[in-house]
Amino acid sequence: MNRKIRELKPYPMDRLVKAKEELRKKGVKIYDFGTGDPKEPTAPFIRETLKASVPEVSQYPTVKGKRELREAIAKWFKNRFNVELDPEREVIPSSGSKEAIFHFPLVFVDGDSGKRKVVFGTPAYPVYERGTLFAGGEPFKVKLKEEENFLLRLDKLPKSILEETALVWINYPHNPTGALAPLSYLRDTYDLCREYGIILCSDECYTEIYFQEPPPSLLQVGKEGAVVFHSLSKRSGLTGYRSGFVAGDKEIIQTYLKYRSSFGVASPDFIQEAARVAWLDEAHVRERREVFKEKKEVFEELFKELNLKHLPVKATFYFWVRLPEGVSSQDYALHLLKYGIVISPGEFFGEGGEGYFRIALVPSVKECKEAAAIWKRAHREFMEKVS
Ligand SMILES: Cc1ncc(COP(=O)(O)O)c(C=O)c1O
Repeated sequence: MNRKIRELKPYPMDRLVKAKEELRKKGVKIYDFGTGDPKEPTAPFIRETLKASVPEVSQYPTVKGKRELREAIAKWFKNRFNVELDPEREVIPSSGSKEAIFHFPLVFVDGDSGKRKVVFGTPAYPVYERGTLFAGGEPFKVKLKEEENFLLRLDKLPKSILEETALVWINYPHNPTGALAPLSYLRDTYDLCREYGIILCSDECYTEIYFQEPPPSLLQVGKEGAVVFHSLSKRSGLTGYRSGFVAGDKEIIQTYLKYRSSFGVASPDFIQEAARVAWLDEAHVRERREVFKEKKEVFEELFKELNLKHLPVKATFYFWVRLPEGVSSQDYALHLLKYGIVISPGEFFGEGGEGYFRIALVPSVKECKEAAAIWKRAHREFMEKVS
């Protein structure tokens, strides 16, 4: 067996799935705020497009993807971020962003060289670390701090680390904290990466879930040495379609394209057609934001009442909540689980997550309200027990 796989802990979400299954067997109603996979129905025009695009004869799709989809993505990017993308050389569709993130270091990290470090924050989406390990790179985790707005501060790392770094992952709006990065941060981080010859990867799958001014993209700062990863999963509620794209520096994109054919990740043509119409429509995305806003308000009220502190949710559909001093997030999560409420303990997202928990606004508005009522009782019971 591959030694690198043996060293990996189980994917955190797998543990949640098991616990939920056990509860379900016991007949407990489950309010799942664990995995970030909201349940709102897919917009009808996207489903109809998908159905109408299923061909009579099925043939292999290309890794490069359909020109029409790449053009739609470039058009969306120009409207949204005012950045021109060449649909021929600077965009590749992906099967969701997870696979594109996971596979990226396989192409761009040379595990035998002295420049094999991959830098990312903790807490973080676990795939940056997993992709690095499978590729033979060396993960270098930087603890993200609340007092620094959970920004990954490369300028605070020693020069020697930056010299040994092949890739840096940033992710704003950030999972799990919901933190945002201003354009000035993106510029400073970009400049530093240019100085050290580091590829800067920006996972931007939450840029469309916002409740104030729209967050920026790294490509607004520059394209050279920069790559962004986008997805329809969160923007359009298409997690099951597995559709996203990678864009940026044309040399990097073309090199990635060349080797992606080895991975077997080409997106089916009928998914690409559904993706094309999704990128060209904003109305369904606005509606989704409205629904998340309603759910968000339920929990803002709940956490205020329970005196639980959290970052203001300005983007993403996550609350990153600080537990009172001395309370273990695993114990708290296990207690809520008895009531059917599933949350993610902060350490699921790495060492930097200790002392916090994350909720994803996944259940319907009605279920969020039901869960909030149950949560109040469960929380008081827990606090009485530990005090
Ligand atoms: C930060 C982050 N990046 C990437 C992804 C992958 O999303 P998908 O593969 O559905 O596009 C997720 C999913 O939860 C995520 O939270």
